[in-house]
Amino acid sequence: MYQHVILSIMLAAPLAAQAPATQKPAAPTTKPAAPGEKPAAAAAKGVRTIEIIGTEDMKFSVPTITAKPGEQLRVRLTSKGAMPKIAMAHNFVLLTKKAVVTDFVTAAMNARATDFIPPDKKADVIAHTGLAGAGETVEVTFKVPTATGDYTYLCSFPGHFQAQMKGTLTVK
Ligand code: CU
Repeated sequence: MYQHVILSIMLAAPLAAQAPATQKPAAPTTKPAAPGEKPAAAAAKGVRTIEIIGTEDMKFSVPTITAKPGEQLRVRLTSKGAMPKIAMAHNFVLLTKKAVVTDFVTAAMNARATDFIPPDKKADVIAHTGLAGAGETVEVTFKVPTATGDYTYLCSFPGHFQAQMKGTLTVK
């Protein structure tokens, strides 16, 4: 019985954390958290968020990221602009050190059906988001590799890597 109460408190943690300790946990605050709010609160512990903006001039607002080996990172990418998504969208694709970047990008150009993530190159990908059209935000949470060094990230929308829509994740 008592354990059930504890469990209830734990499940209500995102709400309870902001409530005074004296407030009855049994209060019927069963209102669900807004979509997107609850995962953020739940994942906040130990996850560092990197906010990146992708622009119509095909650049990432954050061209370098430094992280610790094995760190949990959440990359949130927001596209800014006015062009239709079919003509202009962005993603964030982090590649392994082994990946041959130009080969990946070439394969990606022909992978519109899979949002420019080529199925036969999945082994090259550590983490990737979906595509964000203007005004949209996409995100991915992943564990940074434990091997130190530089990793390339890029937008695999056709032509964007060539326009320098890329960056470097340095693990150290
Ligand atoms: Cu792009």
